[in-house]
Amino acid sequence: MVSVAIDGPAGAGKSSIARAAAERLHYIYVDTGALYRTIGLAAARSNTNIEDDDEISELLSKIDISILFLNGEQHVVLNNEDVSSEIRTEQASMMASRVSAIPAVRAYLLDMQRNFAKTDNILMDGRDIGTVVLPNADVKIFLTASPEIRARRRVAQLAEKGIEADYDEVLKDIITRDYNDSHRDIAPLKPAEDAILFDTSDITLDQSVEKLVNIVEEKIR
Ligand code: DC
Repeated sequence: MVSVAIDGPAGAGKSSIARAAAERLHYIYVDTGALYRTIGLAAARSNTNIEDDDEISELLSKIDISILFLNGEQHVVLNNEDVSSEIRTEQASMMASRVSAIPAVRAYLLDMQRNFAKTDNILMDGRDIGTVVLPNADVKIFLTASPEIRARRRVAQLAEKGIEADYDEVLKDIITRDYNDSHRDIAPLKPAEDAILFDTSDITLDQSVEKLVNIVEEKIR
C-alpha cells in the first residue's frame, strides 16, 4: 500500500489539491479535518464541557464515527447520521479547532486514521499526518502558501458564495490560527523532517495538482 501524507496550514489548498491528485492517481483521499469537525459537532450538540476530561471521555465512549466513500466523495457518519454538510459550518470549524487540542480526542482518532493506510492506497491530509499519524508514509508533503495569498483566496472564495469579507480581518485570523496551530503542545503543525516543502503561492490549482501527482509518481517508481 502506498501512503501519501499532506500537511500544512488552513487555506493552503490542501483539500482541493489532494482530492484532485487522488482522483488522478486512483488513490483514496482521506480528509482528517472532517473527523475533528465531527467530534466538535458531537460536543456542541451534547453540550459537552470540553474543558472537563471526564465529560470528554464520556462523549468519546458514546459516539460512533465512520467514513464512507460515495462516488469517490468522503462522507462522515456520526451515530448513523451523515453529517458531511453540517461539519462545514463556522461553529463546527471553531469547535474542531478547540477539540483538536485535546489529547484524548487525538488518541481516539489515531487508530482510525492509521487503519485507512493498511487497506488502501491513500492520500491523507491534515496537520500531523507525516509527523504523528503516518511517520512511515512513502511520500510526505508540507503544503503552504503565504498568509497574504491565503487571505486573498479565502476572500475570493467567500465572494463566490455571495459573502463579503474584509481582507485585513481574514488575514489577521489566518495569522492567529497559524500561530495557535503551530504552538499548541500536542501535535503542533510543523513539517516532518523528511517532508517536501511545497509552496502554492505562485502557482494555480491545476499546476499544483500536476506537481503533486509528479512528486508521488516519481517517489514510488
Ligand atoms: O482541515 P480542517 O480545517 O477541516 O481542520 C479542522 C480542525 O481540525 C483544524 O482546527 C485543525 C484540526 N486538525 C488537526 O488538528 N489535525 C488534523 N490531522 C486535521 C485537522
